[in-house]
Amino acid sequence: MNTIDILKKSNINGVITVPGDKSISHRGVMLGAISKGQTRLSGFLDGADCAATIDCFRQMGIKIEKEAENVIIHGKGLNGLCAPNGTLDVKNSGTTLRLLSGILSAMPFSSVISGDASIQKRPMKRIIDPLTKMGAGIHSENDNNCAPLIIDGGKELNGITWNSPVASAQVKSCILFAGLYANGDTTVVEPSLSRDHSERMLKALGADITTDGNTVTLHPGNMLNASDIHIPGDISSAAYFIAAGLLVPHGQLTIQNVNINPTRAGIITVLKEMGANLTIENKRLVSGEETADITVSHSNLHGTVISGDIIPALIDELPVIAVLSAFAEGTTTIRDASELKVKESDRISLITDNLTNMGADVTPCDDGMIIHGGKPLRGGLIRTASDHRIAMSFAIAALGAEGVTTLDNSDCVNISFPGFFEQINSITS
Ligand code: S3P
Repeated sequence: MNTIDILKKSNINGVITVPGDKSISHRGVMLGAISKGQTRLSGFLDGADCAATIDCFRQMGIKIEKEAENVIIHGKGLNGLCAPNGTLDVKNSGTTLRLLSGILSAMPFSSVISGDASIQKRPMKRIIDPLTKMGAGIHSENDNNCAPLIIDGGKELNGITWNSPVASAQVKSCILFAGLYANGDTTVVEPSLSRDHSERMLKALGADITTDGNTVTLHPGNMLNASDIHIPGDISSAAYFIAAGLLVPHGQLTIQNVNINPTRAGIITVLKEMGANLTIENKRLVSGEETADITVSHSNLHGTVISGDIIPALIDELPVIAVLSAFAEGTTTIRDASELKVKESDRISLITDNLTNMGADVTPCDDGMIIHGGKPLRGGLIRTASDHRIAMSFAIAALGAEGVTTLDNSDCVNISFPGFFEQINSITS
């Protein structure tokens, strides 16, 4: 595990792009594998999480080639996967585990799916329950509702209506993917709308899917037909650079080709409310996803309240929003975000501990935190718990903190953003 030291910066300048969207990259591989024909994914995220998805499908007999920035998937249709000859290893990727479990539940073969120590602590009851209701044979090997999950093959699935207690695109997508194979319609109702990349991609590939507010219904029966997909830049990765541009005192930064799908772009709404100098230009649709260029410059931010339906649209950005809130004047309150506790780490406790160590005034609560901003931050040792989003968020905090900030693990950024530190260094001084 490599550490990294980061210093305060006073200038930021450039026109950059960030790696492809992680959620869309995963879905492109999964749905490409079960579509008929060849899918070319351009702008694919070459990070560890998406590599795990590719490996799982290769293990089930799908030919997947890498060609520069493109990934080519030779899909075999809904029923073309073969039995894997060992445990499917998702490594650190919750998206791979949850979405793939939906497909595996409908297969004629049995499988075991697991991953690293972090993934084995994350809650899986949220997918075990609906899949079981559909008729799947899925259980937790250690009877603790966590991975490893054992999935018995050869079960006939039935469509269900699932009122999900959590707004989770991983849960919703898992159920919809299983629904492709079910007898009858499958409906998922969410308490708040989570990211809708699966719905958009399924529709583009020919699935019969209807959405109405927080309700989505998949009518099975259609084949999926392969189609090339251009993957825009990931707003969750752009978020670190947006934050850097707002924090560092001099210069201007443009991040081109960022996915601003409204179910992902909550950070833009919140930062504008906080007083950010942020402009969005060149809006266009890229493979059915809203995409744009974002320009930011230093801003005197002020506190805000972040809660309710917007939370799923910025859940992965809350660590870096919390960092910005510590630099902002006044109080920022984050509520309704208890999901932060069950991400790659317990992000409520890690954000609170690390910001407090840097000198910020933060009080955690069960579903969020209260940050009294405006105190000067100083460098220190940051505990990342190998969580990529904690590492990158505190790399941004370091740009505005006095002294040296040391991250205890710099390698974990490769999960979603290989080259992150090099890119930060190239645009700051
Ligand atoms: C994701 C959904 C979100 C998000 C994760 C990626 C996806 O998780 O935090 O990084 O690609 O569907 P939940 O569905 O658990 O909220």
